[in-house]
Amino acid sequence: MAKEIEGLIKSEEDVTAIVLSSYEKTSDPRLNEIMTSLTKHLHAFLLETRPTEEEYEMGLRWVASLGHHTDNANNEVVLAADVLGASTLIDLMNNNGGRGETMSALLGPFYRGGAPDCGVDDNIARSDQEGLPLFFSGRVIDLDGSSIAGASVDVWQASPVGLYENQDAGQDDFNLRGKFTSDAEGRYSFRSVRPSGYPVPTSGPVGDLLRAQNRKAFRPAHVHFIVSAPGRKTLITQVFSDTDEAMIGDVVFGAKEAIVGDFVSHQGPHPDYPGVEGEFFTCKFDFKLVEGTPTFPVPPISGKVED
Ligand SMILES: [Fe+2]
Repeated sequence: MAKEIEGLIKSEEDVTAIVLSSYEKTSDPRLNEIMTSLTKHLHAFLLETRPTEEEYEMGLRWVASLGHHTDNANNEVVLAADVLGASTLIDLMNNNGGRGETMSALLGPFYRGGAPDCGVDDNIARSDQEGLPLFFSGRVIDLDGSSIAGASVDVWQASPVGLYENQDAGQDDFNLRGKFTSDAEGRYSFRSVRPSGYPVPTSGPVGDLLRAQNRKAFRPAHVHFIVSAPGRKTLITQVFSDTDEAMIGDVVFGAKEAIVGDFVSHQGPHPDYPGVEGEFFTCKFDFKLVEGTPTFPVPPISGKVED
């Protein structure tokens, strides 16, 4: 009979406690807290679902393939976090709009830094494209409604065919992206084209999962914003423009009532919008910021797909 050695694993019931004991020398208490909880939940998940070895290998291959499908123009890891609801949960835990500020929404996988600086009313639709003109404007304000001058309004959106410029070699670099600065009254304004809904990328492991779950891959139409100013907490949000059904079915769970925009249809010619013929849209939306320290996300992507 083999001799008993204290501290060696004898059965599945021993594993969690012995693994956790190996973390005891972690010097950062927050890292220790996170890794301890992660390990407990991971082991509990495995003990509950009891994957076969083939299922376990498939799961590990799926995680590895998130990295293999991530490059400068696509971030499959962020996309996976989004479709699992993790990004929206993190967002709501950290930014619940509880002080009256504009509600936030997830950053998503398509934010690029370095968008061109733009002037008042500039058009961010830099490529020739179909799509109804959109005039978007509003103010950046404090909780009491007072103006925030010099705020940065970084905007990006998909084209009317549902692709961000980084996904589409046919669009100019930084098409439908731009950075505006609020004036003395906190006002910002720009021209664009009305966004449309789009499917998230489905050629990688996230697409495989969505198909296996019989889920639709669509996001409702929206425009993304990062609004920042000195002494204010940075707001990352999206303003939505779509049907209730499309917003309820958002594959990344980003749509919320408080950030549905009022996109109003008009017919040109119109005295306030000279030179515009046919149908066009306006949307007015104010961004309300709270005091805090500005922080900026690391862009999930840095460039475009190659031709
Ligand atoms: Fe988006």
